[in-house]
Amino acid sequence: MNGLRSVGILGTGSYTPEKVLTNADLEKMVETSDEWIVSRTGIRERRICSPEEASSDLAFEAAKKALKKAKISAEQLDMIIVATVTPDTMFPSTACILQEKLGASKASALDVSAACTGFLYGVATGTQFIANGLYRYVLVIGVETLSKITNYKDRNTCVLFGDGAGAAVLGPVAEGSGFQSFDLGADGSGGQLLSQPAGGSRMPATAETVANNLHYLTMAGSEVFKFAVRVMNSATETVLEKAGVDKEEIDLLVPHQANLRIIDSAIKRFGLSEDKVAINLDRYGNMSSASIPVALDEAVEAGRVKDGDTVVLVGFGGGLTWGATLLRWNTTEA
Ligand code: UT7
Repeated sequence: MNGLRSVGILGTGSYTPEKVLTNADLEKMVETSDEWIVSRTGIRERRICSPEEASSDLAFEAAKKALKKAKISAEQLDMIIVATVTPDTMFPSTACILQEKLGASKASALDVSAACTGFLYGVATGTQFIANGLYRYVLVIGVETLSKITNYKDRNTCVLFGDGAGAAVLGPVAEGSGFQSFDLGADGSGGQLLSQPAGGSRMPATAETVANNLHYLTMAGSEVFKFAVRVMNSATETVLEKAGVDKEEIDLLVPHQANLRIIDSAIKRFGLSEDKVAINLDRYGNMSSASIPVALDEAVEAGRVKDGDTVVLVGFGGGLTWGATLLRWNTTEA
C-alpha cells in the first residue's frame, strides 16, 4: 500500500446468542408466514439475546476467540474499534466498556456508527493506524443487539433482524498481502430510509416517544433494497478495479446479509458459483454490522479461506452508507 506497512486479518471470532427465534415463532407474533419470509428474504431463523445481555457481552465473547486465533493477548492491543448502532449506552462507548472487560489496558477505544457498513468502516480506520506504523494490533468488532430496538409488532422489520457479534484482529503482514483496496461511501440524503428516530438530541426519549414507538428502528424496505443492489455491485467493482483484480479471481465474497435476493444479484453480476459466496442469513437474519464478520469467521472455521486467497467483503446500510475491501488472505504476522 504505497510504501506503507501491509495490514491483514490475523484472526477472527464470532458469537451469537443461544436463543433461536424461528419463522414459526414469528407467525404467532405478527401477520406473516414462513413462506413469505423465506421467499422474500431467505431468512429462516435468527438469534436473540437475553434481557440481561448487552452488546459488549456479545462483543467480549467474539473478541476472546479472535485474540486466541491471532495468538495475541488483550494487553497487546493498541486500539479497539466497535461498530454498532446498538451500543450498551449512548456513552461511555461500547469500545471503552469492552476495553475494561478484556483488560486491554494499553488500547485506545472508540465506537464507529455506520450501521450495517460499520465493520468495514472500522476495518478501514484500524488499517490506517497499522499501515502508518502508529499501532501494531487493532481489534475491530461488529456487534448488534437489534432485538432491543426492534418492534415485534411491526412485520415490516421484526422478521428481518437478529443479534450477534463478529471480531477481527488486524496486524502487520508480509508486503503485498492483506488489504489491497477499500471503497467507502455515504449518501446522507437517504438517512430517513433506515433510522431510529428517538433517543438522540433531535428527539430525546420521553414517555411520548416511547408510546409512539419512536425508539424502534424503522426502514423503508423497498427503497433500501434498490440502493443495496446498486451499491453492493458498484462497491465490489471499485475494489476490484483499484486492486487491479479480475472478478474471476475472487475466491470468497462475504456480503452483508440483508436479503438473499440482494446477494443473488451480486452472484449473477460477478458470475460467482455458490461455493464462492459466504451466506448465513438463513440462520441469523440481518445482524447489521455483525453480519460480515460473523460470516467471515464461519467461512474461516469451515476451511473455506486459505492463505493467498482473494477475499472481498462488501456491505451497505443506514446512513446511507456502503463499503467494500479486497484482501489477499494472510494470517501470518510479519
Ligand atoms: O441491512 C440494512 C439494509 N437493509 C436492507 O438491505 C433491506 C432491503 N429491503 C428488503 O430486503 C426488502 O425490501 C424487504 C424484505 C424488507 C421487503 O420485501 P419487498 O419485496 O420489498 O416487500 P415490500 O416491502 O414491497 O412489501 C410487499 C408486501 C406488502 O404488502 P402490500 O402493501 O403489497 O399489500 C407488505 O405489507 O408484503 C407485505 N409484507 C409482509 N407480508 C408478510 C411486509 N412484511 C411482511 C411480512 N409478512 N413480514
